Amino acid sequence: MNGVGSRITPIPDDVAEALARGAARLGPFHNRISWVEEIHSTNDVAMGLAERGEPEGCVVVANAQTAGRGRLGRSWVSPAGAGLYVSAILRPRPEAISLITIAAGVAIAEGIHAASGLTPRLKWPNDVYVGERKLAGILAEGGTAQSSMSYVVLGFGINLFATPYPADVATRATSIELELGRPPDRGLVLVECLTSLASRYEALRRGDVGDITAAWRARAAESLGRAVEWDVDGRTGHGIAHDIDEAGALLVRTEDGQARVISGEVRWRS
Ligand code: BTN
Repeated sequence: MNGVGSRITPIPDDVAEALARGAARLGPFHNRISWVEEIHSTNDVAMGLAERGEPEGCVVVANAQTAGRGRLGRSWVSPAGAGLYVSAILRPRPEAISLITIAAGVAIAEGIHAASGLTPRLKWPNDVYVGERKLAGILAEGGTAQSSMSYVVLGFGINLFATPYPADVATRATSIELELGRPPDRGLVLVECLTSLASRYEALRRGDVGDITAAWRARAAESLGRAVEWDVDGRTGHGIAHDIDEAGALLVRTEDGQARVISGEVRWRS
């Protein structure tokens, strides 16, 4: 692969063995996965690769990130070996782009469930929670390369093992190990998440929007019906979140009727 070539190291045996066992289910990701020990941000690397024309399905996995990025300009704390830090290049049709983050949330929650038995819940648009604590996050970033082939880099970070996070993160985060009471198989978590991502992405390509929104609703039942607030045009909106629409926007009942939240973050009020 261009750009990160010199930093690519062999995939660790436990992960390579899991990938080999899951090969038939990995769809576009099969044989396109690169491992780096430490990198600033796998999303940055994957975006660079996408700009240079690397094909859909290329995946960069890091054991550690020194400048992991979260949504809304936040950082994503990425200590060595504590989590999975993964970015995949996708090249969806333009009309599918708005639902990619919703589909990805479903896929990561499903993958974690398949690998660990946990049943994570989704908070709009795609934060992955167990109870009130965040287990995984997704950052989709896109661009139009010079070749005019647009792309989306789908980055996800999953907290695998109990680790001493900074105090502000520690109170809000959890890990698969903390929730299960035993360490997860990281290779299996990666395989199941990529398998589910391949399958949900394929559904999106076919235009099966209803399947994806229904799966999202089923995993977001606890957060629908909750009082939420969000920032819009310099003020704070309030209401009760009740659904998403076919473009993935959050529909919120407000005093004035209904609001459609398309970006940013909603905060739970209770
Ligand atoms: C969020 O919930 O704020 C999104 C977090 C996304 C983190 C992942 S880790 C792999 C990829 N590389 C990054 O720099 N960010 C994403």
